[in-house]
Amino acid sequence: MNNKLKTLLLCCVAGCFSVFSIHAQTHYSDAQIAAKSDSLIKRMTLQEKVNMIHASSSFTSGGAPRLGIPELVTSDGPHGVRVEHGRGWDELKNVPDSGTYLPTGVCLTSTWNLALGYAFGSVLGSEARFRGKDVILGPGINIMRSPLNGRNFEYESEDPYLVSKMAVGYIKGVQSQDVAACVKHYAGNNQETNRGAIDVQMSERALREIYLPGFKAAIEAGGAYTLMGSYNKFRGEWATQNNYLINQILKKEWDFKGAVVSDWAAVHSTSQAIWNGTDIEMGTDLNQNPINYHKFYLADTVVSLVQNSKLPEYLINEKVKRILYVMYKINMIGGLPRKKGEYNTKAHQQIAEKIAEEGIVLLKNENKILPLSSNIKSIAVIGCNATRKQSMGGGSSQVKAFYEITPLQGLKNVAGSKVNITYAQGYKITRDAGPDKEMINEAVEAASKADVAIIVGGWSHGYNYSNWGDNAYDAEGIDKPDMNMPFGQNELIKAVLAANPNTIVVLMGGGSIDMSQWVDQAKGIIQAWYPGMEGGNALAKIIFGQINPSGKLPVSFPKKLADAPAIKLGEFPGDSVIVNYLDDIYVGYRYFDTYKVEPQFAFGHGLSYTTFKYSDLQIKTSNQTATVTFSIKNTGTMAGAEVAQLYIKQEKQNLPRPEKELKGFKKVFLKAGEEQKVALTLNKEAFQYFNDVKNQWEMDPGVFDFIIGSSSRDIRLKGTGIL
Ligand code: BGC
Repeated sequence: MNNKLKTLLLCCVAGCFSVFSIHAQTHYSDAQIAAKSDSLIKRMTLQEKVNMIHASSSFTSGGAPRLGIPELVTSDGPHGVRVEHGRGWDELKNVPDSGTYLPTGVCLTSTWNLALGYAFGSVLGSEARFRGKDVILGPGINIMRSPLNGRNFEYESEDPYLVSKMAVGYIKGVQSQDVAACVKHYAGNNQETNRGAIDVQMSERALREIYLPGFKAAIEAGGAYTLMGSYNKFRGEWATQNNYLINQILKKEWDFKGAVVSDWAAVHSTSQAIWNGTDIEMGTDLNQNPINYHKFYLADTVVSLVQNSKLPEYLINEKVKRILYVMYKINMIGGLPRKKGEYNTKAHQQIAEKIAEEGIVLLKNENKILPLSSNIKSIAVIGCNATRKQSMGGGSSQVKAFYEITPLQGLKNVAGSKVNITYAQGYKITRDAGPDKEMINEAVEAASKADVAIIVGGWSHGYNYSNWGDNAYDAEGIDKPDMNMPFGQNELIKAVLAANPNTIVVLMGGGSIDMSQWVDQAKGIIQAWYPGMEGGNALAKIIFGQINPSGKLPVSFPKKLADAPAIKLGEFPGDSVIVNYLDDIYVGYRYFDTYKVEPQFAFGHGLSYTTFKYSDLQIKTSNQTATVTFSIKNTGTMAGAEVAQLYIKQEKQNLPRPEKELKGFKKVFLKAGEEQKVALTLNKEAFQYFNDVKNQWEMDPGVFDFIIGSSSRDIRLKGTGIL
């Protein structure tokens, strides 16, 4: 690690505890901001105020130049700064917008490393600032309710606790660079099918226990300055202009002081948006070219409603005050120095690589097929994803990468000239493409001649901008039709495995895929997600043992689609009008464990090249809190990292509760033979559940199990405590 990277990571760790340095003059306090905003608002005309609450171009909302208030410049997010669109929708050509392409959200979360969450955010914030952006449209933290969601690759986890922890670091990292994070998509946007129309129905308990905690943490602990309202309806009212979600919960209960930005074209009515808490209207589709932004719902109509005393002006003032709050917080206005950001630095690229190294998950490693022995002379690399660049795929999260190391390139870089590497494509990425006999034969021949075959396949992003999912998957605006391996890959993998039993399967993509046809035969399986610009190098270093894998699944991998709770208990994607979340709180492992269904790979699973021994569990409880301590020893011969996971279960339950729930974790880095003590403290919230009969959080005193695992199903220690 070079010094710059070390310093950046150290700052990142420090930054987890304080967003800004404590030197008084760097940023205004909330009280100062309130006074300054009030005085500015007094000097603004109604027209100037209204200009600020709607878009002024594709990615900006209006300012008030007369008073020195600039436009607010936004950009996607969430894993790099998006290509430039200028003021319109077309991509600009020949502009320097190729930047750092970070691993996508699900890969970041797989690191379970809070310092990397912060580091990720800092890189993104710094590059956004350098590119002149004020708001980065991320993180995306919708719960992975179904394996089919086309945007799971951008999201973080099926578990609300893990989402909360990772999102906070990300947000603080972004905002440490004087750029606002925009946590999205609030709320209930857990599918792409009919996302602009579907009415999401769920119990209050599911809302409070599963779907809201990430957003609550983003606001309360992360201090996100902006939040994006989602496209869907929630209990009959559009989420972006939803009184309950925005006024009652976000602004009142959580005391959110920043601005609510609509998703692009998520506003549908002037009065609902005005009264129910939308602060900035973006992207409304007026079906005209050029767009007349005065025709937006929160534009001229608002001016005349206020002028005709049909709307009180204080509602507009409140929105403007929230936008000014964001602007002061990131030193856009107010005269204090603002960070300038950096672009495409070595340190940024190294952080991208570190996240990939810690986020890639070793799913299976029979007979220690990995890491590859140094005696290997030849490798047959097979599969489209080995050479495919993924950064520009997937929809609004597309990033023009400064460079992107593909798996094939990474393997060549790391293997060096002593290993003979051949490549065969194996399959074609085209929807509904069946197995290609010729390509399979070519792959089989290459595999049979090589010491080892590495198939790099799985899902892939679509590229077509207006129809992102047309030839591939993992794309905004479209869910996957099923969990089956596309493009004839089952046939390919089975044929290659038959030709060479030393075959490793590397899966890319935003989530699970049905592996049932070959999972028992494949000795080595790696989940590589979309690992960013340095992903190929990170993957190769893991394969050759230069890096010891430490990623853990942030989402359960079902054996087959029919096992997924959204499908089995609930509805997905619902009819075209309503989707009922009948799976309720039984999302992910909460379902698999409670209903005793075996997943293919469990939540929290991920192997290492070394072994860890857990011991000395002690549980101390008092005053509705618990301190859990235990030791972990690296009992193997290689340095490595283990994510120790703490789950709890209440023994006697008044309302049914899941078999276990994640309430703490710690990633521990250990040299060979080294032992460390881990201490995790659980406060009273950890033991509560939401009682939707009484409409409140409750804790039933009693006996709790404390379950420590290397995954949700690989339990190493267990004890009880009375609370
Ligand atoms: C997406 C958002 C994105 C916005 C702006 C929408 O279609 O849902 O995630 O930030 O577009 O590009």
